[in-house]
Amino acid sequence: MAIVTVSEENHLEEVNLPKSYRVAILGATGAVGTELLQLLDQRQFPLADLKLLASARSAGQTLEFQGSRLTIEEVSEKSFDGVDLVLASAGGSTSKQWLPKVVAAGAVAIDNSSAFRMDPQVPLVVPEVNPEAAATHQGIIANPNCTTILMAVAVWPLHQVQPVQRLVAATYQSASGAGARAMEEMKAQARAILQGETPKTEIFPYPLAFNLFPHNTPINEQGYCEEEMKMVKETRKIFGAPDLRITATCVRVPVLRAHSEAINLEFSEVFSPSRAREILSQAPGVRLVEDWQANYFPMPLEASGLDEVLVGRIRQDISHPCALELWLCGDQIRKGAALNAVQIAELLVAKDLIKPAAALVAS
Ligand code: A2P
Repeated sequence: MAIVTVSEENHLEEVNLPKSYRVAILGATGAVGTELLQLLDQRQFPLADLKLLASARSAGQTLEFQGSRLTIEEVSEKSFDGVDLVLASAGGSTSKQWLPKVVAAGAVAIDNSSAFRMDPQVPLVVPEVNPEAAATHQGIIANPNCTTILMAVAVWPLHQVQPVQRLVAATYQSASGAGARAMEEMKAQARAILQGETPKTEIFPYPLAFNLFPHNTPINEQGYCEEEMKMVKETRKIFGAPDLRITATCVRVPVLRAHSEAINLEFSEVFSPSRAREILSQAPGVRLVEDWQANYFPMPLEASGLDEVLVGRIRQDISHPCALELWLCGDQIRKGAALNAVQIAELLVAKDLIKPAAALVAS
């Protein structure tokens, strides 16, 4: 924004002020929504206004932001009037219903759901990997699946040096991936089991406390669940590598909020663990965590609340001369969802890719 001021010498001068944006969080009461709220504050996102949107269930409740209590509104046709940027994390059907209205209102949406991720018109962005894709947006930018983001941050720096030929992943996914109510359900199950009671299941199909089960998304005709296919298809789109061979097994584990992944990477030539360590120790968004003597490596408890993806146990695959094994943990709510979305928003701000709604109305 430019304003005209009068200088000490009485000359008129145009001064460029940093822009600020009217932001709405759709799904503000959820696990990711509340994290978005914290991140906008912690990272001092240039806010002109902040609107909190959720379902009728939460309308009228308040959430604290920068010392004030903001009232949650039920999302409606008018919610996006005068809004520049919408950070959406309210599930796929809510995004499908409302994001076209966000775009029609002239705002930009960063969507945490899977609704638009594979749409060829919609960029799928991990800022450490493909920031340039954000510039191609036509109103909606998709935030990838959480396990995919964490894996992409760790694998991309290696893929840049030697293209990965084949990737085999096994995931250990926390309750948070299924939302705030799922986290509460797992805690309640743990309390029930410890008291000798039968655990209740509403969100998850089976008890998660003291248990684990293959990811409960629908299974396709090849036997892969949706979560596994998200890792396959989204990684290919983010890397711009449509033929990359990927397979994954996704498992839900009784951890509250950080995901872990065991990843095997096959290259066409030998990739030494020491070279991989050197590259990853300098890679953006990655923190190397390895103490071989102490058998100390990334753990979900230690990754919780951190911005970085923790990577360790980098070793040569003894079954293949050109393959590496690695282990990672990353905060699913933060880098796996809310932080990645806010980083995309920061990219848009830095490149001036958000058109304030008022400008659109005036033009
Ligand atoms: P609400 O709390 O009013 O149900 P999580 O992923 O942690 O379960 O959070 C989901 C978020 O999406 C919550 O903020 C929830 O709001 C919101 N949400 C779910 N369904 C809708 C809907 N139909 N319209 C608007 N917000 C919704």
